[in-house]
Amino acid sequence: MKNTAATLMAQKQSGEKITMLTAYDYTTARIEDECGVNSILVGDSLGMVMLGYENTLPVTMEDMIHHTAAVSRGAENAFVVADMPFMSYQTGVRDAVINAGRLVKEGGANAVKLEGGAEVCEQIRAIVDASIPVVAHLGLTPQSVNAFGGYKVQGKTLEKAQKLIDDALKIQQAGACAVVLECVPAKLAEIITEKLTIPTIGIGAGAGCDGQVLVYQDMLGLNTGHTAKFVKIFAEAGRAMREGFKAYIEETQQGSFPAEEHTYKIDDEIIGQLK
Ligand code: KIV
Repeated sequence: MKNTAATLMAQKQSGEKITMLTAYDYTTARIEDECGVNSILVGDSLGMVMLGYENTLPVTMEDMIHHTAAVSRGAENAFVVADMPFMSYQTGVRDAVINAGRLVKEGGANAVKLEGGAEVCEQIRAIVDASIPVVAHLGLTPQSVNAFGGYKVQGKTLEKAQKLIDDALKIQQAGACAVVLECVPAKLAEIITEKLTIPTIGIGAGAGCDGQVLVYQDMLGLNTGHTAKFVKIFAEAGRAMREGFKAYIEETQQGSFPAEEHTYKIDDEIIGQLK
């Protein structure tokens, strides 16, 4: 059965941990969905892991719709959340509603995610009023990388920790159905999780959140660069891919691929009659 915002809420209430993974294409979404992940996030991290940009800032609405539509076709049961890209909602409430609507109408998303606290509450309220569930995103919000001066743990001072709590309560009040907490100290994330009635989904925010999310390329060991402290590699898919690609190149070069069993047959009689 298709998961909804209500499913995630029920999981918080029953204490069943919420599982969320990113996906950006049909095949990955189908595999994750078959494995039983509760929710799939079409993150604007696709800017880095799919398109090779340095950060998420260049990602467009067209990129997000294209990838969200592919994921939606592969996600039978998972709740599909699509990221609103940089400058698709910061520019005002009207832009936010129009762009959230496009992610649902053209991309088939079940919900949208946007970054920020008090400053985006008007947008959250308006999108929710348009009957589109909104997942908020607090802590390390990658679209603010230039303002933060890098990817750093957030909420470590009293003032900043208190602001995160206040922001979490405000986005809940504005109607968000869940919140992603990224790179937040575990104890602070636990306090926020206790104070909120909506689920918290952590990435680098410890085990006290109601659920977890990871970028699938990170947790499958597909990335070659720096790995963040919060990433656990659950399977060495990158190694398996390299082995497979190398074996294909070697066997093709040697002529052992394709073998008899990979080829189609034709009657010798027909071959004999060819001019
Ligand atoms: O874009 C993304 O993948 C995200 C996750 C890191 C939560 O926002």
